[in-house]
Amino acid sequence: MSYETLIVEQTEGVTMIRLNRPEALNALNSQLLGELCAALDAAEADEAVRCVVLTGSDRAFAAGADIKEMSTKTYAEMFKQDFFGASARRIEQFRKPIIAAVAGYALGGGCELAMLCDFIIAAESAKFGQPEINLGVAPGIGGTQRLTRFVGKSKAMEMILTGRMMDAAEAERSGLVSRVVPADQLIGEAMAAAAKIASQSPLAVMMNKELVETAYETTLSTGVAVERRLFHSLFAFDDQKEGMAAFVEKRKPDFRGS
Ligand code: HXC
Repeated sequence: MSYETLIVEQTEGVTMIRLNRPEALNALNSQLLGELCAALDAAEADEAVRCVVLTGSDRAFAAGADIKEMSTKTYAEMFKQDFFGASARRIEQFRKPIIAAVAGYALGGGCELAMLCDFIIAAESAKFGQPEINLGVAPGIGGTQRLTRFVGKSKAMEMILTGRMMDAAEAERSGLVSRVVPADQLIGEAMAAAAKIASQSPLAVMMNKELVETAYETTLSTGVAVERRLFHSLFAFDDQKEGMAAFVEKRKPDFRGS
């Protein structure tokens, strides 16, 4: 499939999706989010795809929702269109791992999009922020909720009420990103992590993803009980037999996803 606002590349087991609206610092408009959802549908349907890397340009992961598209909308239009709600839910419900590789600005909806991914690897140039307050609005695809869970109330409140940006080092210290790498190594590092994930059992990967997500949605005792059930259920798969046999036989496992 070809896209106007994305560049999609396939390597073994990994789909890399690059946001590509350079004239608008990858601002998220309806077309881009529609194409992103279509690319995720294709990646989900293709058994050969085991992991997705989502990235932008050196200058911007995404500078937010497209302000020019939103500026004249009425409340009735925003409500009827469920503005960007369906796209956010599509990304939330993507079952394979999705890594955000962030360089430059990740602002507003761009920061929220990165937080919708499973983890964020940041270039030293990355800048995160929720500057919607400067426009007289608020984050709209989870920013107030996810940023608060990632970095805690005090820092999230300061960033959201003042619009202050966080650099990559602060984002790492605060737990927003998994690690920071030099800008010229960002794609290589993200692709290496994706390749490592792609070499694992896809069944175990999807269950592990669900379990970490469960930690955000439930109590400790319920989450631990769900974990025990899924841990036991993994013994129903050939991949568990293969993984443990390979360890005992001192060879690399050949996971088939069965
Ligand atoms: C539309 C945008 C844009 C955006 C940048 N551009 N951000 N267009 N929507 N969010 C466009 C600019 O208009 C300009 O095009 C071009 O990209 C380059 O931007 P400049 O401002 O000239 O670049 P620079 O001076 O380097 O400043 C970079 C910047 C600034 C600090 C990132 O562009 C900026 O503050 N952008 C807005 C960030 C923001 O407020 N994001 C939150 C949006 S609200 P032209 O053609 O005009 O020169 C949001 C809500 C989410 O995200 C809720 C979802 C439901």
